[in-house]
Amino acid sequence: MCGIVGYAGVNRAVPYLLDGLEKLEYRGYDSAGIAVVENGALRITKTRGRISFLASLVASEHQSPATVGIGHTRWATHGKPSDANAHPHQSGSGRFCVVHNGIIENYLQLKAALQADGVVFRSETDTEVIAHLLDKNWDGDFVSTVRKATGQLEGAYAICVLCSDFPDRIVCTRWGSPLVLGTCDAGTFIGSDVTAILQHTSDVYYLDGHETALVTKDGAVFYDKTGAAIEKQPTRIAWNLAAAQKGGYEHFMLKEIMEQPQAFADTVSPRISADKRIVFEDFHLTDDDIRALRRVAIVACGSAYHAGAVGKYVMEKLARLPVEIDIASEFRYRDPVLDAQTLVIVISQSGETADTLAALRLANGRGCKTLCIVNVVSSSIANEGSSVIYTHAGPEIAVATTKAYCAQVAVLYLIAGYLAEKRGLLSEEARRAYVAELEALPAKISETLSQCDAQIQELSQMFIPLEHAYFIGRNLDYACAMEASLKLKEISYIHSEAYAAGELKHGTISLIEQGTLVVALAACDDVFSKTMSNIKEVKARGARVLAVSTAGHTDAMGEVDFRLLIPATDPLFAVTLEVLPMQLLSYYTARSRGCDIDKPRNLAKSVTVE
Ligand code: AGP
Repeated sequence: MCGIVGYAGVNRAVPYLLDGLEKLEYRGYDSAGIAVVENGALRITKTRGRISFLASLVASEHQSPATVGIGHTRWATHGKPSDANAHPHQSGSGRFCVVHNGIIENYLQLKAALQADGVVFRSETDTEVIAHLLDKNWDGDFVSTVRKATGQLEGAYAICVLCSDFPDRIVCTRWGSPLVLGTCDAGTFIGSDVTAILQHTSDVYYLDGHETALVTKDGAVFYDKTGAAIEKQPTRIAWNLAAAQKGGYEHFMLKEIMEQPQAFADTVSPRISADKRIVFEDFHLTDDDIRALRRVAIVACGSAYHAGAVGKYVMEKLARLPVEIDIASEFRYRDPVLDAQTLVIVISQSGETADTLAALRLANGRGCKTLCIVNVVSSSIANEGSSVIYTHAGPEIAVATTKAYCAQVAVLYLIAGYLAEKRGLLSEEARRAYVAELEALPAKISETLSQCDAQIQELSQMFIPLEHAYFIGRNLDYACAMEASLKLKEISYIHSEAYAAGELKHGTISLIEQGTLVVALAACDDVFSKTMSNIKEVKARGARVLAVSTAGHTDAMGEVDFRLLIPATDPLFAVTLEVLPMQLLSYYTARSRGCDIDKPRNLAKSVTVE
């Protein structure tokens, strides 16, 4: 959560800081601040609210000529969004200020000890202890002081520090939360992810855990965890700047919805060989390992968990392995039964989700084979799995995921087909047909998006005044219902629930009354008639039903009030198409309700806290 920027260069720092913060605002947006050193003293401007508000404040009172500075956009954890809790936080002496991403788990003990020494705290944040620890450990050497202070921290942190004694430099370090640096003619840029740096350079340095960097306009000097100077090699980022810009769309979410054909194709095509086999350079399980597998556990949060739900159905069907799916925050605290014959697949767009990372560490510690499906290169999860398969969705900026979810599902289809083949369960003919269907999907995704757009805009009108909505489906349709429901609630603030269609009658059907809107996902052929029975049950109780299915079922959908048809496809893949109108439905409903689509209230893009 939270975004960090830093700049040490030859130009005025403030415009770069504000620009970088705007690019990172999707990481957190309840307060923001910047700091520079001016005439030997720290000058801090910070405020509750969005970057645009900070920018107007800065415009009126902060025309600083300083060429070095740091900035922060916050998603509140310790202490409410307020001016006082906004970063940067300054030490009691006024010598240091710090911006921080992460959680300091031992901050209460540290705070008590500092208060016992007479330190006065001005915020409710955990971060402020870092500022005061810098004072306490001050030895005249900026880098050594930061290393000593962070040596006392437990938890996760990425920090940038300014010191009034050294106006030409920033010291930054990290553990558990990411930090990236890039150098160009204008100077050195720091960001909590590459989107803050991308417009200046594509060659970046990922700071490893406990490494420290001393940053000036001329570049960065890196130190390892022992404090010894080290050489680091830059990594070339494949993402281009256009991918992180709106490109004429009103919102990132709509742009990202429309980018799904590309995201799916870019994720699948490098993994299909000339002879139409599924190949993974990055899957480190031998054929014997795969044959010895007894089960799969998929662990993730939010939409990534919903992608996992698709993976469960497809993997069980094709590879005939039992697959459990778990929400990462549950998995990590329930002492799961794991062994060396369990493949643990963790899924994360950001690669930084705290619960998913903890689940991965748990699985690694229990000797499981771990496979991570990640979008952000060199993120913590990508670095810690025994294998990593990258989704090639490009940068995803909207808080509500669409194209990354689509790419996660694509990887899960690939893995299911791969495991099935290695386990001798996919004939040559079946494999070719499966791969052909995967390769045909990008075109069908495009077709679905263009076909249903106008109809969805019209249908969204009836969602605008709603307080509640229900999404039902069975099997893969249920996986889609969960994702559809989350999308609607997170960006439009309409309460919605996803239910396995057959489960409604065990309690929840009591909520259905005259006019209740139920969306029935009904694209799975083998359970279509069962879902239709459930549609009849809710209609008998007064519900209005919007059903989503394929053209082949048009006649059998006679009972429903509204129908939305997706192109014909193998039933195993229909879920990748039926989710698309659901994303658009959420988008248009939220837009008409005047919601802040790309930055929904209370949320942040990467959830690096428990
Ligand atoms: C979905 O739209 C959400 N923004 C959220 O549920 C997200 O999928 C979840 O927080 C997991 O994030 P990750 O993929 O970065 O781990």
